[in-house]
Formats: sequence, C-alpha cells, structure tokens
Amino acid sequence: MPPKLSVRNLFKVFGPRPGKAIRLAGSGFDKDAIFRETRSVVAVNDISFDLAPGEIFVVMGLSGSGKSTLVRCLNRLVDPSRGSIRVDGTEIADIGREALRQIRLRKISMVFQHFALFPHKTVLENAEYGLKMQGVSPQERRERALQALDAVGLSGWTEALPEALSGGMRQRVGIARALAVNPEVLLMDEPFGALDPLIRAEMQKELLRLRERYNCAIVFISHDLNEALSLGDRIAIMKDGRFVQVGTAHEIVTEPADDYVAAFTRDVDRSRVLPAAVVTADLEPLIAGHDRVGAARERLEEVPHDSLPVVDGTSRFIGLVDAESLADRPARLDVREAIRKEAAAVQSDAPIVEVFGQCAAGHTVPVVSASGRYKGVIDPLQVFAVLGKDQTNGEAEIDGRADDEADPMADETPPPAIAAAGLPARAHA
Ligand SMILES: Nc1ncnc2c1ncn2[C@@H]1O[C@H](COP(=O)(O)OP(=O)(O)OP(=O)(O)O)[C@@H](O)[C@H]1O
Ligand SMILES: [Mg+2]
Repeated sequence: MPPKLSVRNLFKVFGPRPGKAIRLAGSGFDKDAIFRETRSVVAVNDISFDLAPGEIFVVMGLSGSGKSTLVRCLNRLVDPSRGSIRVDGTEIADIGREALRQIRLRKISMVFQHFALFPHKTVLENAEYGLKMQGVSPQERRERALQALDAVGLSGWTEALPEALSGGMRQRVGIARALAVNPEVLLMDEPFGALDPLIRAEMQKELLRLRERYNCAIVFISHDLNEALSLGDRIAIMKDGRFVQVGTAHEIVTEPADDYVAAFTRDVDRSRVLPAAVVTADLEPLIAGHDRVGAARERLEEVPHDSLPVVDGTSRFIGLVDAESLADRPARLDVREAIRKEAAAVQSDAPIVEVFGQCAAGHTVPVVSASGRYKGVIDPLQVFAVLGKDQTNGEAEIDGRADDEADPMADETPPPAIAAAGLPARAHA
C-alpha cells in the first residue's frame, strides 16, 4: 500500500540564515555550533520517514529536540525550510494558501495537549466544526460527528457544553472533531499529556481501537516512554532535530543506537516490551499419529520440563502431555489420546509479562506463531536473564564527558539537554 505520509529530507531553521545553517548541518556541524555560527536554530534536521495507513509513529525526545516543530511542519503550521511532505501522494511542502486550507480540512487533522473547544457550542457542534468548514451538508455532518462521538464514547453528551466535561472528555471531543473529517493523517502533539494516569491509559487503548476504525496514519508525540512503547508501531527518538533511532519498541529497548536512546529506555518495564519469542527455547515436540505414550513417558524423564508439547503432522501445536495424563494409559496408545485438555499456548509476539504466572508456577509454556505453529517453550532462566539485564546495556551513563568524546564539535560544557539526558522522565515531570 502507498504511504499515507511520506517525508523526505525535511529541515526547519528558525533564524536569519537558513541556507547556511542547512549547509553546515549537511557537513556534520551540530545544532549548537550552527547557532554560534549563524544565529539560526536548526530545529528539524534532515528528517525522512514514511507512514502506512493505520500506523502509529511515536516521536520521543527531550524538551527542545524538535518534536513540535516537526509535527507543525507536517501540516504547515510552521513552514519547512526545505524538504518534501507528501500526504496521500500530494506534495504539500510548497502549495499555496487555498490548497493548504483544503488539505487541512480534509486530509490532516491535529490534536494538541490543550485542545481548544468552542465554549458556547455544544459537544456535537464542536465535533461538527471541521465538516462545517468543509461545506458538508448539515445532515451529513451531523451524522458523521455523531459517529465520531460514538467512537470516542461520548454519544450521551452531544448537547452538553464543554464546561460540563472533564479534561479527558474534552480531549475526546477534540479527537472526535479530528476524526470526523476522516483524515489521512492525524497529528497528535502530547494529546494525553495533561490527563491523569488512569484516564491516560484508557485513552491510549481507545486510540488503538480508533486507528483500526479510521485507518489513518498517526504521528504521536510523547514524553512518556511507556506510552510510546505501548502505542508505537515504530518509535523515533529525536535529538537536536534529528532522528537518532527509528525502530519497534523491541528494537529501541534491546538495541539502543547510543547512550541517549539507552537513557530513555533505562527504566522501561522490559516484560511489557519484549516478546515471548526472545525467551523461547527449542524443545522437540511429540508428533500425534507417530509418537506413543510409552515413548512419551521416557522422553519426559529425560527433559527438565513438567510436560511435553504435541504437534500434528503440519507442526501445529495441539496440546501438552504430562506425567499425570500419560499415567495409567497403554504404552502403545497414540500420544494424542493423552493430551491435557486445558493446555494453552502463548503467541511468540505476546509480551513476556503474560507468561510470568505460568513460569513462576514451574509449568512448561508452549510458544506458537500467529498461525498456531509450534515454536518451542518458554525458558524460565532466559526470562530472568533478559529481565534482569543491566538496562544501560553495560554502557557508561550519559554525562557531559561521554558526549564530548562522541562529538568533536562539542563545547567544554555540555548543553543543558545533554546534562538532563540522564533523567528523561524527571526532566519533564
Ligand atoms: N518560533 C521559534 N523561533 C525560534 N526558535 C524556535 C521556535 N520554535 C521552536 N524553536 C526552537 O526549535 C527547537 C525545537 O523546539 P520544539 O518546540 O520543536 O521542541 P519540542 O521537542 O517540541 O520540545 P518540548 O518537549 O518542550 O515540547 C528548540 O531549540 C526551540 O528553541
Ligand atoms: Mg513540543
């Protein structure tokens, strides 16, 4: 499928000498050096990415790293200094006012942290607003706004005024307004940043449902790593206007590109991010229609597991046998007849947290692919090894000295952003 959003070599420079600043950036000078030289800030520095329909792309980074400037470039609230932005195949980086207005009304919606609702309009009128601006007929816009309000769980509130709503509900109205136009691209700049943790978790789940229903590409800015990891199909870590790493939650946590990324992921709950696949060990299964109870009893004696998996002729997992289910059965009986009925498998992409209970109880946990093919069993020792691993990957913590070494252009004193990098969570508390 063609990308909904395609960004190429995007730059935004604030200040008097954008051309020179971009040239210096191209020669490897960093943001601070370029500022000293040109009095211009390279807020977005050579960013490229593509978003597929339905994809959630989370952008994270310290304060000042350029996240807001980047999303604001994407709908031209800020005019980019250079580069290409294609929305659903249409170049929008250099189009005129009227064409841009149409794109904003129909193709790109945006939700901010403090979303402004019209205080004297009802919830329904607020949700209809974008459609009204598009000139959609009253009846159709009412229908579409009602659908969007229903999708965000506000169908009972259509006639209320914003003042009657909680912060979370107001944010839902904002999302309904953004979705009612059925955009190709939804831009969200810390949309849940002002919500309390419970509401926030609820909104995150809701967003995952909404993206399936509306199938738009979503650029989502967040300061919260756990939010990023649970929402992002891919996550970009931004520093000084650049993407220092783009990857899945798994990649970002297990293979941080540098100390800056490692500092972000240090406190993450790995059991919620890493999939069962990384702690899966080989264990040869029994084959239904081939292996018999007697042989199974012997195998069970030899392995350090309380059960053995049984697969069919096409490697599909069909169940477990254990000492109890094998006992008192004729040795020549097919193993299929001794399968424990309640045995369940986990999918290899399920987070490790889902198998903790069974592991701790000492049970054998079979792992299967999405199509049910047997992959192996969870290895409890690997579970503890992976989760207990030093979260900085054994690297030195971020500090001014380490950064100086990595960066020949750096000043004597580290910029404040680097000094703060060791504490990404608290830096934004
Ligand atoms: N209008 C502007 N004029 C000049 N410089 C700007 C302007 N807006 C942003 N900047 C600079 O661009 C850089 C990126 O700022 P931006 O607001 O995009 O960061 P951010 O990652 O969104 O930060 P935060 O997490 O605090 O929201 C910063 O160095 C900032 O000072
Ligand atoms: Mg910002």
